[in-house]
Amino acid sequence: MDSIIVSGGTPLNGDIPIAGAKNAALALMPATLLSGAPLTLTNVPRLSDIKTMTALLESLGVEVTSMQGGKVQVLSSHAMTSTRADYEIVRKMRASNLVLGPLLARHHEAIVSLPGGCAIGARPMDIHIDALELMGAQIELRDGYLHAVAPGGLKGARVPLRFASVGATENVAMAATLAKGTTVIENAAREPEIVDLVRCLRAMGAQIEGEGTSTIEIQGVEALGAATHPVVTDRIELGTYMLAPVFCGGEVTCLGGTLDLVTSFVEKLDAAGVDVSESDRGLTVKLRGDRPRAVDVVTEPFPGFPTDLQAQMMAMLCLADGTSKLEERIFENRFMHAPELVRMGANIEVQGGQATVHGVARLKGAPVMATDLRASVSLILAGLAAEGETRVNRVYHLDRGYEHVEDKLSAVGARIERVQER
Ligand code: UD1
Repeated sequence: MDSIIVSGGTPLNGDIPIAGAKNAALALMPATLLSGAPLTLTNVPRLSDIKTMTALLESLGVEVTSMQGGKVQVLSSHAMTSTRADYEIVRKMRASNLVLGPLLARHHEAIVSLPGGCAIGARPMDIHIDALELMGAQIELRDGYLHAVAPGGLKGARVPLRFASVGATENVAMAATLAKGTTVIENAAREPEIVDLVRCLRAMGAQIEGEGTSTIEIQGVEALGAATHPVVTDRIELGTYMLAPVFCGGEVTCLGGTLDLVTSFVEKLDAAGVDVSESDRGLTVKLRGDRPRAVDVVTEPFPGFPTDLQAQMMAMLCLADGTSKLEERIFENRFMHAPELVRMGANIEVQGGQATVHGVARLKGAPVMATDLRASVSLILAGLAAEGETRVNRVYHLDRGYEHVEDKLSAVGARIERVQER
């Protein structure tokens, strides 16, 4: 297993290219299951989660051809061999559950392992199941697997979601494209990754509208066809690298970034004293004074502040002038980075879903442990500011969601390297 070593204190200057969104690609890839015709995805990020989804789709008989080092993928489900998503793959990545809706829609059956526990909370599947049952699916849990059938096919329905779940919205939107009649998803998630999926489904021939609003309406069609679709920019990678110059000075342009992807995040940066400007090339970021100011943050579904940027924001607020309050409303157990940041000299109190961060003037390098994807990168950011060396162990989490983090940061002047874990 690898570790990343960061030596803090060097200002960062230059451009960081932002990849295609992991979370969009993980929903777009299973969309191939809806059609026998090829789906070509461009701007695909090169990440281990994408490899996991590739392995899952291949286990179902999907042909996946990678080009340009994995940046372009052609997926074809013309010769499916299975409708069973095995525990051995699903347990590695919750997004594997996104095969459920498409398999049910086209093959009228699916056996999908429940993902099981996850470091940031229980993350059940009840919203997905309730929604698909409203569309006529019969779903039973046996041996840790969801056994789902839709004899005669799925039927359009009014599908109100009790929470605007990203995954459930994606599963239902995909399933409804081939259902008989009209489906209306109420309280749908509005994340840019949903918008991206809907645009791709439309390119495949789906009759679907309302993406980016709380109501998505889908008129089922007989079959979907071939399409080529570019994956939207990764707003979480974007937000992460936007924070980098706040930790150690300098000015960084995140290439391909646009304000509409990170509006609520940029509002908080502005309040914290960070300048963000948009140009044709992307978003340029610079800290106005010597230290950011304290701000309060509450995570919410899009367009609110994203939970996937909470750990990185907390790392920044550790160095802010004043006391900040962070409230995590999406996942119940998502402050595992706090004790690691405390090891670097931060002053944080956590109580349930709330954290109080008393800003300190400096952090100190330390060996720390990455517990999940976004926690890992928050520790690397903290390491950019810390005096001395920070060693982030167990970085396999990082490789799930960040393409070549050490290359991207060293290209703008950071002292960062990947080493074999001791
Ligand atoms: C997606 C993202 C993840 C992000 C999250 C919230 C992908 C691959 N992952 O995850 O990075 O952090 O959105 O923005 O896109 N819930 C239930 N029952 C369900 C489904 C969800 O109770 O059936 C709960 C979850 O436990 C969690 C909350 O709803 O507390 C949000 O989950 P959801 O929006 O579904 O997130 P994911 O799609 O899993």
